[in-house]
Amino acid sequence: MTRPLSGVHLTGWGAYAPSLVLTNADLERMVDTNDEWIVSRTGISERHIAGPTETTASMAAVAGLRAIATAGLQPDDIDLIIVGTLTPDFPMPSTAALVKGAIGNKHAPAMDLAAACSGFVFGYATAHAYIAAGLAKHVLVIGAETLSRCTDFTDRSTCILFGDGAGAVVLSASDEPGGTLGIEMTTEPSGAYLIWLPAGGASRPTSDATIAGHEHFMKMKGTETYRMAVRTLGSTSLKSVEKAGLGLDDLELVIPHQANFRIIEGLARSLDFPMERVFVNVGCYGNTSAASVPLALSEAVAAGRVKKGDHLLLVAFGAGLTSGAITLEWTADPANAARAAGIGPEDVTITPGYLEPVNPFPPALNWLLDRESAGGGVPTRPRLESKGVPR
Ligand code: ACO
Repeated sequence: MTRPLSGVHLTGWGAYAPSLVLTNADLERMVDTNDEWIVSRTGISERHIAGPTETTASMAAVAGLRAIATAGLQPDDIDLIIVGTLTPDFPMPSTAALVKGAIGNKHAPAMDLAAACSGFVFGYATAHAYIAAGLAKHVLVIGAETLSRCTDFTDRSTCILFGDGAGAVVLSASDEPGGTLGIEMTTEPSGAYLIWLPAGGASRPTSDATIAGHEHFMKMKGTETYRMAVRTLGSTSLKSVEKAGLGLDDLELVIPHQANFRIIEGLARSLDFPMERVFVNVGCYGNTSAASVPLALSEAVAAGRVKKGDHLLLVAFGAGLTSGAITLEWTADPANAARAAGIGPEDVTITPGYLEPVNPFPPALNWLLDRESAGGGVPTRPRLESKGVPR
C-alpha cells in the first residue's frame, strides 16, 4: 500500500517517569563498570526506576490521563485502550484492563500488545486501523515498562541499559488534512532470541531451576542486536516516509527508539540525516522499551521541538525482532500540554487492594529506597537534556 493515509490525528500526548533515579555512579557500586564505559558505549547517564508502589499499570495510567487531558477529552471519550508492554503487571488480567479501571473509563475495550520496544508503534498502527475502519473515534495508545523488575543487576552487559517509565498518545478521527501519513511494520523471527526473557512462559514455566539460572531476566546478544537495529531502523524509516509520499528532507524531526546513542547516530548516518533533527533523551532515561518513543515525543513537544505543520517520524525496533515507523504531520497545538498540568499519580484510582507495595522490590535496588527516604536521591551529574516530563 503506497497511498498516503488520512483521517487519523495525534491529538493528545503525555508521559510519566518515576522519581527514583539510578545513575552510572550507582551502577559502579553494583557491578564491575564505570561511567566512562557506559557513556561512551551507550550515551546513558541515568535511568528512572519504578518505586515500591509503582507498576507498569500505575505509570501507564498517569501517562494516559495526561494524554487524554492534552487532547481536551474526558476518560470516557476513549473508545479503545491499547498498552504496549513487555512488563505487564500480570500475565492476566491485561495491564490495559487495569489502566481502564484506574483512569475511570467505562466503555472502552482494553488490550495489551506484545511487540517489545516496538509495542507503542505497533499499538499506534493498530489504533490507526481501528479508527480508519470506523470502529473507534478516539483511541488511547500507551507504551509503559517496568524493566527494572526483569533486569539482572548482576549482569553488567544489560543492567546499564534499561529504565522504567510510560508515555501515551490519543489518536482521533478527523477529516482535517495531515495526521498519520505512512505506517511501516516488520517482524524478523530469525532474530527472535537476540533479546529475550527465557522463563516464566509456557515453554519454560517457573521452577527452582529457572530462578537459580536467572532465567526470569532479560538476556541479550548486544553486538548482533546493535547491527540489526541500525539496519532495520533505517529500512523501516525509509519505507514509512515513502508510503507517506514524502522524502527524508521533508522531516522536521525524527524521534527514534532510545536504546543507545550510538545506534541513533548510526541510524542518522545510514540515512545521511542531520543529528540536529533527531531527538535524543536516552542519556536521562536509558532504554525504556515501549515507553521510549512516546516519552521522547512528550519531551520533544515540551522542549519546543515540535510545531503545527511539522512532519515527524517515530521509529522503533525491539525483540522479535520487531520494527515499526510512523510518519505523521503534527496538527495539534503544542500549548495544549498545559491542560495536563497538575495530573499526577494521586489522580489514578487503583482498584482497591491491587497496588500493594511491590513484593519483593528488586533486592539489588533496596539501598536506593534507603537513600531516597534519607533525602539523598539527587543525581550525581548534570542532566544531559532539560527535563520536560513532570513526575
Ligand atoms: N562495563 C564495562 N565493561 C563492559 C560492560 C560494562 N557495563 N559491559 C560489557 N563490558 C565489556 C565486555 O565484557 C567486553 O569485554 P571483553 O572485550 O574483555 O570481552 C567489552 O566490554 C566489549 O563488550 P561488547 O559487548 O562488545 O560491547 P559493545 O561495544 O557491543 O557495547 C552494548 C555493548 C552497549 C550492549 C551494545 O552492544 C548495544 O548497545 N547493543 C544493543 C543493545 C540494544 O539496543 N538493545 C535493545 C534491546 S531492545 C528490546 O526489545 C528490549
